[in-house]
Amino acid sequence: MPRLMPVIATLLAATPALSDTFEEVKVAAGETLYEAECERCHAVDADDASYGPPLENILYRAAGSYEGYDYSIALEASGIVWTPAALRAWMEDNAGFMPGTKMRHVGIEDRTVQDFILAYLTSISAQDNKAISE
Ligand code: HEC
Repeated sequence: MPRLMPVIATLLAATPALSDTFEEVKVAAGETLYEAECERCHAVDADDASYGPPLENILYRAAGSYEGYDYSIALEASGIVWTPAALRAWMEDNAGFMPGTKMRHVGIEDRTVQDFILAYLTSISAQDNKAISE
């Protein structure tokens, strides 16, 4: 439940105009959750230094493919593509999903929280990526 507090705060602070779509509200809530759960290790912008690889354009990117980042062998050799389903499994239990990864366990099990973060990750990915179905 504490994880939902930033979402509620965002929804109240944003007091969305009638023209805001539900998707825009989800993206805004997802951004707040991303800031709380992911941003300390993942810069959005590839130009910013960060401990983890940048997550701009992560949707449908091949895992371990960000040029110049020193990935674990497990991630680099996984051969997976970051579909929404793979991103959910990763958020839920990254170490269980991919033993040997060097990303510390995050453990976001709440599907609604996953939905919000996914909406945000989609918003920072190329428009073309969204056309590909799950
Ligand atoms: C404590 C630091 C830390 C936190 C917090 C963290 N990550 Fe990571 N993340 C990493 C590291 C380090 C890697 C590289 C893992 C490897 O090489 O095995 C990584 C890798 C990833 C990858 C694979 C990227 C690629 O290029 O293949 C994704 C996707 C990802 N993280 C998503 C997230 C999301 C979403 C969150 C928040 C819910 C999050 N991470 C929170 C450190 C973190």
